[in-house]
Amino acid sequence: MMKVKNLIKVYNPETIPVHAVNGISFEIEKGDFVAIIGASGSGKSTLLHMLGLLDLPTKGEYTINNLNIVKLPEEEKTLYRLLQIGYVFQEYALVEEMTALGNVSIPLIMQGKSKKEAEKLAKEALDIVGLRGMYNRTEDQLSGGERQRVAIARAIVAKPKILFADEPCANLDSKTSEQVLEVFKKLNHELKLTIIMVTHEEWHIKYADRVIKLRDGVIEYDKRKNH
Ligand SMILES: Nc1ncnc2c1ncn2[C@@H]1O[C@H](COP(=O)(O)OP(=O)(O)OP(=O)(O)O)[C@@H](O)[C@H]1O
Ligand SMILES: [Mg+2]
Repeated sequence: MMKVKNLIKVYNPETIPVHAVNGISFEIEKGDFVAIIGASGSGKSTLLHMLGLLDLPTKGEYTINNLNIVKLPEEEKTLYRLLQIGYVFQEYALVEEMTALGNVSIPLIMQGKSKKEAEKLAKEALDIVGLRGMYNRTEDQLSGGERQRVAIARAIVAKPKILFADEPCANLDSKTSEQVLEVFKKLNHELKLTIIMVTHEEWHIKYADRVIKLRDGVIEYDKRKNH
């Protein structure tokens, strides 16, 4: 379980302070699918980066299964990111000259797995996101939605516990966005993956179980949906 209490992020505290996140508290249970929404500048990415161990809070508490994330030494944090967390961003950030299979293998190669083992698991991940038969395509041979699904496969290949996504559909049309969101839903249902996704499209929230809306760095509302 993830738990944040009074989380605060102030950029440039010494010069012109920006209070990007201004005291946020919540708990997220394992297997939850949470959408974070709010206007541009409301603090969504800042919050997600702190939750994803990519940035430190200025103040506040953050624990995952009682592990104090704020106090975790840098090396352990790096290991934690590599083994427990997957990230999907707006830009797919694929390695251009590599195939889909090569791209998805990267996290496993970084973990020291053999090429053969890495490719076996990478194929499974590509199958899950619906890209069977596209293993050997390079980025220029894939559509935007397919590229994002390669990025999702890369994010889940090492079997993380939590998946963070920051506007994963920002560069996609609505039909392709739907396909990508269906993939998230499937990962949440079938693998019980905890998903925390930032979006600014109102219609995306129907894919999530819970919606947290930010305004000026604080929670405006936090609603669980009844299915
Ligand atoms: N590195 C930084 N230095 C200073 N201010 C920053 C920095 N990053 C973000 N901010 C400011 O913090 C506030 C929150 O930014 P953040 O990127 O979290 O918003 P957001 O909700 O993700 O917006 P968007 O929907 O446009 O992506 C904004 O006022 C922004 O200008
Ligand atoms: Mg943002």
